[in-house]
Amino acid sequence: MTERQPFIAGNWKMNLDHLEAIQLVQQVTYHLEPEDYRASEIAVIPPFTALRSIQTLIEGDRLPITLGAQDCHWEDSGAYTGAISVPMLAKLKVSYVLCGHSERRTLFGDDDETVRAKLDAVLRGGLTPILCVGETLEQREVGAAETVVAGQLRAGLNGLTLGEAASVVVAYEPVWAIGTGRTASPQDADAMCAFARKTVAEIAGDATAEGMRIQYGGSVKPGNVVDLMSREDIDGALVGGASLDADDFAIICRHHRL
Ligand code: 13P
Repeated sequence: MTERQPFIAGNWKMNLDHLEAIQLVQQVTYHLEPEDYRASEIAVIPPFTALRSIQTLIEGDRLPITLGAQDCHWEDSGAYTGAISVPMLAKLKVSYVLCGHSERRTLFGDDDETVRAKLDAVLRGGLTPILCVGETLEQREVGAAETVVAGQLRAGLNGLTLGEAASVVVAYEPVWAIGTGRTASPQDADAMCAFARKTVAEIAGDATAEGMRIQYGGSVKPGNVVDLMSREDIDGALVGGASLDADDFAIICRHHRL
C-alpha cells in the first residue's frame, strides 16, 4: 500500500489584503511544530495580490509551507486583460494552482474544456494542478454524483501522460458542502474519494490512482478534520472558511496529534 503524505491546503478565496495575509501566516505558523510539517504538507492559497508578500515571508522565515494560486489563464502571455499566467505564478515560487474550483465553474463559467486548458497550462509550466471536482445538490439528489465526478475527472485527466497524471492532486468538493456548514459525512466523503480513485485507475492505471493525493473540501473544521483524515481514501483537506481563522487552521494542520 502506497503511503500518501497528508496534504492540508487553505483556500482563502477573495479574502485578505496582503498585510492581513502576512499576519495570518505568521499566526498559523506560530502554532505549528516541525512534527506538524513532517506529518502533513501544508499550503496556503491566497488571492493573487498576496502571493508576493507570502512568498517573501516563506523565504525570509524559511517556513516549510507551500504556496498555491486560486486560478490561472490557459495561455502563457498575451492580450488577456486582467488575467494571470502560469509563468507569472512560477516566478513567485507558486507550487500549486487550483483548476476548476466549483466557484470558478458556477460563477465564472469555467467549463470542463476551460478547466482542462488551465490544467494543461499548469503542467506545461512545471507546477502542480489541484483539479477540483464535485457535484451540486441537485445532481446528488437525482443520483448523478458519481457520473458528474467521473465526467470532470475524465475531462481533466484523459490523454495526459502517466507522469503528468501522477503529479495531479484531486480535490473532491461537493458543491452543497462548500461554505454551507454542511459537511459530507466522513463515510460519504470517503466513498466519493474512493470512487474518484477508482475512476483515476480507469483513466491512468492503478499505480497512478494509488499514489494520487485526493483531498476532501467542504466545511472542513477543527471538529471534523480528524474523522475525515482518518479515512482510507481521504489524503488531505482543501479548507475554505476555517483557513481564514489562524487558530482553526492551525488545529486542522495539527490533526495528526489531536
Ligand atoms: P469551505 O471550507 O468554506 O466550505 O470551502 C471549501 C472550499 O471551497 C475550499 O476550496
